[in-house]
Amino acid sequence: MKAIEVREYGDSDQLEAIDADLPEPGAGEVRIEVEAAGINFADIMQRRGVYPGGPDAPYTPGMEAAGTIDATGDGVGLDEGDRVVAMLNTGGYAEYATANAQMLFPIPEGMSFEEAAGFPVQFLTAHSCLFEWGGLEEDETVLIQAAAGGVGTAAVQLASNYGAEVFGTASTQEKLDLAEDLGCDHPINYTETDFREVVDEETDGDGVDLVLESVGDDVFERSLDAMSHFGRMVTYGVASGVPAEVENRRLLFENKTVKGFHLGQASYHDPSTIMQAVPELTQGLTSGELEVILGESFALEDAAEAHQYIEDRKSSGKVVLQP
Ligand SMILES: NC(=O)c1ccc[n+]([C@@H]2O[C@H](COP(=O)([O-])OP(=O)(O)OC[C@H]3O[C@@H](n4cnc5c(N)ncnc54)[C@H](OP(=O)(O)O)[C@@H]3O)[C@@H](O)[C@H]2O)c1
Repeated sequence: MKAIEVREYGDSDQLEAIDADLPEPGAGEVRIEVEAAGINFADIMQRRGVYPGGPDAPYTPGMEAAGTIDATGDGVGLDEGDRVVAMLNTGGYAEYATANAQMLFPIPEGMSFEEAAGFPVQFLTAHSCLFEWGGLEEDETVLIQAAAGGVGTAAVQLASNYGAEVFGTASTQEKLDLAEDLGCDHPINYTETDFREVVDEETDGDGVDLVLESVGDDVFERSLDAMSHFGRMVTYGVASGVPAEVENRRLLFENKTVKGFHLGQASYHDPSTIMQAVPELTQGLTSGELEVILGESFALEDAAEAHQYIEDRKSSGKVVLQP
């Protein structure tokens, strides 16, 4: 089968199309004939070799794969031909991938494989950060960094549908228009305007109740400044590649909270908390209340180009690979 391999840690040109052996499902696993593989920012960090606990090179990347079950291992109550989307550790950038049967969902009727490949990581991350970790209330304000990205577009919809007042940042007008269409009340082009100033102006200097922060570096620092007294932040990414540090005094005098979130680790340690959102999310996507925002699709063999596209910040919504 065709697959993509990261030869060595490094730039996107380390992604190479190879011929690989067909993987065999073990007990409790299924093999999926992949129709669409989701690309996540974490794939890029793993490829650079800067993802804590990431795979050793060479390996086949890919944490999300949507397709049809093609073979089942022992002890799996699923059928060949079922349409599913799976969360994986690695291996999604391939024509076939094996998945733990506990970590997959049936694809709702009417949902395409591409949309399905953009569902689990971004919507479960957005939902967990907003509600289970962030404790968002209907009458609160929330600032979402990278609001037009994969997780960002999911978070904007969920927060707006819930009734919260949403501030969102992005780097281009096109991305901000998308965020606004999805319900962002205050789209902010951070390359032109300081988001802190907009937040101060719109909240009478109070700051926002909750921040979803995924960039790190000075964006983390300035997000702390933009939070209200008693404000909360959920930090869940370091897209800048520069981790930020928290100074305890800054938190204690203003009664602020910073919580970390990691979907993979949370799913491992407390799967029931993470998975409780699945019926609500599936229902929202089926009814049209929620939408997977698809960005570009690339052929599997163009994985290097797809990574570069995301690293150059050209993407909005979810970028997928099609074997
Ligand atoms: N903890 C978890 O479980 C978890 C799960 C999923 C994702 N994440 C994290 O959440 C973030 C979003 O993930 P995603 O897959 O949905 O990606 P994404 O938001 O589609 O892409 C990243 C976005 O971050 C913004 N950005 C700001 N500074 C950047 C920089 N220096 N380099 C590159 N991008 C920069 C860019 O948007 P602008 O051009 O608009 O600034 C870019 O489009 C990532 O940090 C990812 O690692 C964490």
